[in-house]
Amino acid sequence: MQFLEDIYITAMIYGKILQILKIGQLASMITASSKISVAPMMDYTDRHCRYFLRLLSKHTLLYTEMITTGAILHGNRDKLLGYDQAEHPLALQLGGSNPTDLAECAKIAEEWGYNEVNINVGCPSDRVQSGMFGLCLMAKPDLVADCVKAMKDQVGIPVTVKTRIGFDNNDSYQELLHFIQTLVNSGVDQVIIHARKGWLKGLSPKENRDIPPLDYERVYQIKRDFPTLNIGINGGIQTLAQAETHLKSIDHVMIGRSAYHDPYILMSVDQAIHQSQTPIKTRQEIIEAFMPYAEARLAEGDSIKALTRHILGLFHGEPNARLWRRMLSDTTYITKNSGPEVINAALEATIAG
Ligand SMILES: Cc1cc2nc3c(=O)[nH]c(=O)nc-3n(C[C@H](O)[C@H](O)[C@H](O)COP(=O)(O)O)c2cc1C
Repeated sequence: MQFLEDIYITAMIYGKILQILKIGQLASMITASSKISVAPMMDYTDRHCRYFLRLLSKHTLLYTEMITTGAILHGNRDKLLGYDQAEHPLALQLGGSNPTDLAECAKIAEEWGYNEVNINVGCPSDRVQSGMFGLCLMAKPDLVADCVKAMKDQVGIPVTVKTRIGFDNNDSYQELLHFIQTLVNSGVDQVIIHARKGWLKGLSPKENRDIPPLDYERVYQIKRDFPTLNIGINGGIQTLAQAETHLKSIDHVMIGRSAYHDPYILMSVDQAIHQSQTPIKTRQEIIEAFMPYAEARLAEGDSIKALTRHILGLFHGEPNARLWRRMLSDTTYITKNSGPEVINAALEATIAG
């Protein structure tokens, strides 16, 4: 009897290990296969924005806005974590520094079907600093490593970190090397590095995205020093051609503001980078594909501007770009009671030229 029980327990343990390995492999395949992502951006990359961006590229990894562990553990999860299945592959970015809370949130993220969970170690805002997370965590590599380890113990999806090349006067290559080495020891699946340092005092978050100079070479050097670590590069990347150049030296490119303000740059990602045979869509086709979603969200009570604000950049650089923006934001054309027909009207006027 005891013999049979031992066999049963052994089989269970092997089964569990295999299950974990299988999930882990699948999960790291997702991170490894995404060459381009759209950066987490508070107030920008909400679910409507992500649905719209997904119409441009199937392969681009999309990040949520940063959500704090406190909000997830104590807030309205449907509101904070809800998304449309079409948004996959999708990564949840977390703000936090307590390993237990982060591990719990990683588990929740996995249960909700997110493909990756990411820790924010790059945001310099005062609010984030007072919560002891974001960029100030670069001063505590061991704590970040404990967070990653605790999360990896709980989930099979990739656990990744988004950081910068340094902070304040702690910006030597040796310090960055030590930080990344500590993350590698923790088993992190990918590190995305914003190629400029951040200042915790003296610059606003917005200034911290523009003023410290970009140093892509430093990120390339990290890749040379950690050839087996999946590294993403971020900061100031504006075109797909620039992204392709980075991909010669680095595994992954994360694009922030340019993907939001000129989303059509994502249109050729699948064809140019992932060898997809899917035909390129016109801007008109993208809006036509967006309409059923917009209508459904409006019917559920979302405001029209909550949807249109994310599509304002679609005609960026095109002859009627200003008309498109105006017709979807100016109260002469669009009010809070407007229906989806305003989008069709803007489209017709814009393409009529
Ligand atoms: C409006 C806005 C909000 C942002 N919010 C976040 C955030 O929630 N988490 C984060 O890690 N970075 C955030 N960032 C920084 C971006 O993810 C990215 O690192 C930065 O914009 C540099 O990339 P880019 O030059 O391609 O825009 C934000 C940037 C912007 C413009």
